Amino acid sequence: MRTRIVLLILALALPWAPLLAAPPAEPAPDTMQARVMGCAACHGAHGEGTDNDYFPRLAGKPAGYLFNQLVAFRDGGRSYPPMNYLLAYLPDAYLKQIAEFFSQQHPPYPPPAKPTVDAATLALGKTLVMNGDSKRNVPACAGCHGASLTGMQPTIPGLVGLHANYISAQLGAFRYGTRRAAAPDCMHDIATRLADRDITAIAAWLSSQPAPADTTPAAASPLPLACGSVHN
Ligand code: HEC
Ligand code: HEC
Repeated sequence: MRTRIVLLILALALPWAPLLAAPPAEPAPDTMQARVMGCAACHGAHGEGTDNDYFPRLAGKPAGYLFNQLVAFRDGGRSYPPMNYLLAYLPDAYLKQIAEFFSQQHPPYPPPAKPTVDAATLALGKTLVMNGDSKRNVPACAGCHGASLTGMQPTIPGLVGLHANYISAQLGAFRYGTRRAAAPDCMHDIATRLADRDITAIAAWLSSQPAPADTTPAAASPLPLACGSVHN
């Protein structure tokens, strides 16, 4: 792991500009482009994600959401050592530029995963995502993540194009508080109302959905539950 990190740091320091399609806006090699190349090993050159079944897609998520995550990795609200290491000490203004960059990328989505669970489990996943479960006070995920699950401006991510392993790990991290967002942390509240079986079902159903034709995040609208990370 240490060698990997050292290589990544080296990658960050090299002038990669010639490998990028767009010409640099500034005459001097821009560290923004170098930084983004350092991210490509895991997230793809345009934030499309990689074949690794955990590394998440970044492309097209609202810039406000991506910025909040970069701040969380830098300041400790989220933990993944290579990312905590890469982002340590970077100023907010710089993280905003990185967030803007990935929010404006629109590479194709991966083909949907073949579900490995039975039909009843998939059906449960779909019901929870689209309708929630009022008996357990679980709001529909689509109420915040957008009717077509492409996210909502300015700070809610799309749930399409993510791997099942990543989705279930994030729901577990919200539940146990190892991933934290600003209070009230709506995802913590929701994740603690879900059973393990629900999380498996949700992750399986979401990851098996093709991306809709229009993947633009939905416009801001009132939420079914307060989220401290959402400022409309
Ligand atoms: C060694 C692989 C690796 C590298 C290099 C890497 N990331 Fe990540 N990144 C990950 C993983 C894995 C996660 C999910 C971590 C978790 O929460 O478990 C992640 C999460 C993220 C997220 C949150 C995504 C979401 O949907 O919530 C953002 C934003 C992000 N990375 C941006 C970057 C940027 C910008 C760089 C380059 C400076 C970078 N990453 C470099 C592996 C990497
Ligand atoms: C009340 C609004 C709301 C509802 C309802 C909601 N979410 Fe979220 N969700 C959010 C917000 C806000 C974030 C971003 C939190 C942060 O900044 O870390 C988020 C983040 C996530 C993430 C992390 C995505 C990533 O790329 O890392 C997952 C996964 C997720 N939600 C799944 C769900 C599921 C599944 C449901 C339904 C059971 C659901 N959410 C319902 C508001 C909501």
